[in-house]
Amino acid sequence: MSKSNVAVIDCGTGFTKCGWAGNQSPSFTFPTAIAVRPSGGAGGASSTSASRAPGVPSKPGGLAGSSLASKRGIEDLDFFIGNEAVANAKTYQLEQPIKHGLVENWDLMERFWEQCFFKYLRAEPEDHYTMLTEPPLNPPENRENTAEIMFESFNVKGLYIAVQAVLALAASWSSNKVTDRTLTGTVIDSGDGVTHVIPVAEGYVIGSAIKHIPIAGRDITYFVQQLLRERGEAANIPPEDSRRVAEKIKEDYSYVCQDIVREFRRYDVDPLKYFERFEGEHTVTGRKYSVDVGYERFLAPEIFFNPEIASSDFLTPLPEVVDTVIQQSPIDVRRGLYKNIVLSGGSTMFAHFGQRLRKDLRSIVDSRLAASEVASGSLMRSSGIDVNVISHKMQRYAVWYGGSLLGSLPDFQGACYSKADYDEHGPGIVRKFSIFGQAS
Ligand SMILES: Nc1ncnc2c1ncn2[C@@H]1O[C@H](COP(=O)(O)OP(=O)(O)OP(=O)(O)O)[C@@H](O)[C@H]1O
Ligand SMILES: [Mg+2]
Repeated sequence: MSKSNVAVIDCGTGFTKCGWAGNQSPSFTFPTAIAVRPSGGAGGASSTSASRAPGVPSKPGGLAGSSLASKRGIEDLDFFIGNEAVANAKTYQLEQPIKHGLVENWDLMERFWEQCFFKYLRAEPEDHYTMLTEPPLNPPENRENTAEIMFESFNVKGLYIAVQAVLALAASWSSNKVTDRTLTGTVIDSGDGVTHVIPVAEGYVIGSAIKHIPIAGRDITYFVQQLLRERGEAANIPPEDSRRVAEKIKEDYSYVCQDIVREFRRYDVDPLKYFERFEGEHTVTGRKYSVDVGYERFLAPEIFFNPEIASSDFLTPLPEVVDTVIQQSPIDVRRGLYKNIVLSGGSTMFAHFGQRLRKDLRSIVDSRLAASEVASGSLMRSSGIDVNVISHKMQRYAVWYGGSLLGSLPDFQGACYSKADYDEHGPGIVRKFSIFGQAS
């Protein structure tokens, strides 16, 4: 994996993906978690964005670690991030600095980024351009806070903050179904904490039409746990492994069916063909156990298409949300939005997800076209609307990969702000970045 001079860091609610522009995949993927000394003493665990101390520029050529130490006292450097944080959860306090895609604790976030640079990427930020990602509708103050940390604490050479959905569109250029490098399309980004449906026209997010769906990876895992309990299978799993097993079943055995009634029937007629056996081993004792995996294989992702099977709080199927988002976008871009529906994030990885989404959306669009033809007394005939859902091999890390792709284009560095730009204009400068990369 080669090290370019552009670091790409995509911090999600559940996982952080970081690596170097130009590569096919991130060099590191780890939980967006940080373990700090239990509060009582000084520390970030209890601090909020308001209490973040102003950044101190790192000494030229020096380790940012030393500037952070002088800012906080050496004991505050005692923390872990990622898998190490999770492993130390018993003796340290485990925190998640990002909630629903948004940074909630800036002090912890700064320490988290610090280790992303120094411990994982092993890079001096001042020698590298840095691309960070943000969710749609990130408040501009968050961008400013980010820039303040990047320039004042880490002294990055240049900074670009990209909207995750725009990067996901760029990532889809790797699909052979995509023929032109367009930044117009509808992005379905479903990760661990949230699912967004985001219309983008020529690289600009149509903010007024975005919708969130409160169903993502974490909810699907809970749902699998619930299904296993209902079928009595949960009794075979040690309680402390329950979540991990459900996640594994979700990731390795689940798929989207095209018709739920038919799928139930298939399982009932020929269970031997469809039921799978999951063999597990207790993480501590090593005791072996096995679990029968059945209907949860197709019911898990079905909650996107029939949300009522899991909860009564949110009832709108994903294809309907996608249709509403496009209908609420300006009329002149709607065709482009139906034509290029792009999947991004871990929770879109279920087999046949794109196929089902296309089928259900197609039927919504067709019924509307038929209804409007009838309403016009058959005077108006639509030329039809192209509905395409793009799945591609970079989908799992689409946001990161889009960053890798755009970060290695020749016009990238010109689109970054430097420390000199930041000093001259102040943090407000990062409220706007230029869009580049699409074929014109
Ligand atoms: N093959 C798979 N099938 C289904 N789900 C998967 C698969 N691989 C990963 N996931 C799920 O994807 C989720 C992580 O996705 P991702 O890394 O895109 O999220 P994130 O960026 O951390 O979160 P968010 O975008 O919500 O802020 C986890 O819930 C994980 O269980
Ligand atoms: Mg994400």
